[in-house]
Amino acid sequence: MRPLHEMLESSSVLLFIVFILLFVLLVFVVLIRKNGTAALIWNEIIREKITNFIMNQTKEQRILNFVLQNAVRGDPCSVLDTIDKYCSQKEWAMNVGDEKGLILDKTVEEVNPSVALELGTYCGYSAVRIARLLKAGAYLLTVEFNPEFAAIAKQMIEFAGVQDKVKLLEGPSEEIIPQLKKKYEVDTLDFVFLDHWKDRYTPDTILLQECNLLRKGSVLLADNIIFPGAPEFLNYIRNNPHFQCTNYPSHLEYMKVGDAMEKAVFLG
Ligand SMILES: C[S@@+](CC[C@H](N)C(=O)[O-])C[C@H]1O[C@@H](n2cnc3c(N)ncnc32)[C@H](O)[C@@H]1O
Ligand SMILES: *[C@@H]1O[C@H](CO)[C@@H](O)[C@H](O)[C@H]1NC(C)=O
Repeated sequence: MRPLHEMLESSSVLLFIVFILLFVLLVFVVLIRKNGTAALIWNEIIREKITNFIMNQTKEQRILNFVLQNAVRGDPCSVLDTIDKYCSQKEWAMNVGDEKGLILDKTVEEVNPSVALELGTYCGYSAVRIARLLKAGAYLLTVEFNPEFAAIAKQMIEFAGVQDKVKLLEGPSEEIIPQLKKKYEVDTLDFVFLDHWKDRYTPDTILLQECNLLRKGSVLLADNIIFPGAPEFLNYIRNNPHFQCTNYPSHLEYMKVGDAMEKAVFLG
């Protein structure tokens, strides 16, 4: 048996570590209460990873399962409400969300597109949102390069009953855009929703023009121009004589953090 003082020493080291951990946790909780961005980091990085490990399942699978169990099949609005409920109450996720979703709805209704393109499908939330507003015969092409997200989105779109209006194109936007005319028989795009990685906004907007996919009056709508932010894109599009821009201030999905969308009408 070890002498008593050694045991005491090792247990006090343990106690010390526990105290340090508690202190770090306390600082974190204070930060989270003060700052939405820290909350986001907490939610995203720590809690999600722990939950993924315990449940052996990704957040996106949990979102889909929640929809399959709680939404009404064939009812796009019920699918959207159910995703919003899960992501505002249980786990944050990068869907455009209900608040900016209204700006998206309004823009789609205004443009009334025959052919729409979305860059960044994720779980299919905004695809369902856009598709439910399309007139008969109109369709949405949505581009996603992450095969796991694409598989989730496919099921989401089908459950919402909008699969006849949506074509999911799996691959990086920079490869898909140049194929749109020949492979997917697109003439021009009436509406483009940019919601993929922010450093692709400018190069893909240039690519859309180079491939002659925009016509006079085509409308681009870009999400997250404040958070995480796309300053380079704003600089490019606002100083471009071929585009007329409008800013729509709003908030980051399911958060109080400020964000905005930028509409850019192509003038030809
Ligand atoms: C913010 S999420 C899209 C959210 C979705 N529009 C919604 O509101 O429901 C961004 C998605 O874009 C995808 N993505 C990012 N860069 C891409 C690229 N260059 N090509 C295709 N997909 C991309 C990511 O995998 C991610 O799923
Ligand atoms: C975790 O899930 C994957 C696929 O969903 C499965 O193949 C694997 O066996 C699971 N692992 C455990 C430990 O349950």
